[in-house]
Amino acid sequence: MHSPRVAERLVPFGTSIFAQMTRLAQQHNAVNLAQGFPDFDGPGLAHKAATDALAAGHSQYSRMIGVPPLNEAIAASWASRGLGTIDPEREITVTSGCSEAIVSVLLGLFNPGDEIVVFEPYFDFYTACAAMAGLVPRFVTLHPPSRKGDGFTFDAEALKRAFTPRTKAIFINTPHNPTGKVYSREELTLIAGLCQRHGVIAITDEVYEHLIYDDAQPHIQMRSLPGMEDKTVTLSSLGKTFSLTGWKIGWAVAPAHLSAGVRAAHQFLTFCAATPLQHAAAAILREPGDYTRGIASLMAGNRDRLGAALERLGLTVHRSDSTYFLMADHGALGYADDRAFCRHLAEHVGVAAIPPSVFYSDPRRGQSMARFAFCKRRETIDEAIRRLERLKPAR
Ligand SMILES: Cc1ncc(COP(=O)(O)O)c(C=O)c1O
Repeated sequence: MHSPRVAERLVPFGTSIFAQMTRLAQQHNAVNLAQGFPDFDGPGLAHKAATDALAAGHSQYSRMIGVPPLNEAIAASWASRGLGTIDPEREITVTSGCSEAIVSVLLGLFNPGDEIVVFEPYFDFYTACAAMAGLVPRFVTLHPPSRKGDGFTFDAEALKRAFTPRTKAIFINTPHNPTGKVYSREELTLIAGLCQRHGVIAITDEVYEHLIYDDAQPHIQMRSLPGMEDKTVTLSSLGKTFSLTGWKIGWAVAPAHLSAGVRAAHQFLTFCAATPLQHAAAAILREPGDYTRGIASLMAGNRDRLGAALERLGLTVHRSDSTYFLMADHGALGYADDRAFCRHLAEHVGVAAIPPSVFYSDPRRGQSMARFAFCKRRETIDEAIRRLERLKPAR
């Protein structure tokens, strides 16, 4: 038997928590509120568009930057939402999901030893991909609210201190996984000012841009702020918006001088995303209908139902305005930490959630919380709620 061999730079990351919790959920037949994927299919049009693309014979490699109809559909979708004009040829690079866009940006634009500012809790891809690119992360903590109804916030002075002469980039994930925070104009303006003062590139991950609920403040693009157009790489994808997470069609939008770096890496990572799905994605973006509105209404209802149930059981549920997720504090129930709580939930209650300490540079910061995904059918959420009634305090 050989012992597992893993490169040193990846050893600290172990097996992704999503894979671990999904396995535990399967072992215990638990309702999987751990990994962020819907348990229903995307729009009916998606199937037809995908089969049409296959029937049309779109089965070979595509152009490296994306099939022309998709680049054009992304640009048209921005224009139709009043987000300005982007050049489909020079400014858009289609990737295999936002995931590949993340690694393309980091490998293609920065050098080993460069520093990157990352808000925590973070999507774990950022730190693992930063390590693959030899970048040094500097963390700024998003603190849970002390008052009910408020969202997670960061300390402006801590953010300023995170910028050093070696800082080359900052990751902003808005709307934010796992907290459901939508960054305000004031917060983005502060970040933009620091980017301009220090000559830093803003990488914004906006995969949840269409999933904002109720009266939450609207999503604001960093790229739209004065002076940021030539300093911002905007990442997004089809998966979260259209409940098609397995399609893995994403994109990076950046001015031509930054797209050059993204493409330099992308051409040697995957070269192109799956061609038939690129054509199908173009068809969906051209005719999105009101899918997003319907899904946002389902999600908001799920969030409220699940949140209310967790509160009844003694957890403190933090405000989530967006995404697929809510964070809840289980501290009052007396479990040792988030891993103990989530293990107990999966094994004895039959519900899987994510222990968020893995999303922090210091795991103690996430120990009292758990992340629940509510991107499921209403029946799934109700079944999870029924099972959660079995949850008892540890002491
Ligand atoms: C913040 C964030 N960015 C990127 C991704 C990955 O996107 P994709 O599935 O398009 O690769 C996810 C998926 O969970 C995410 O939560």
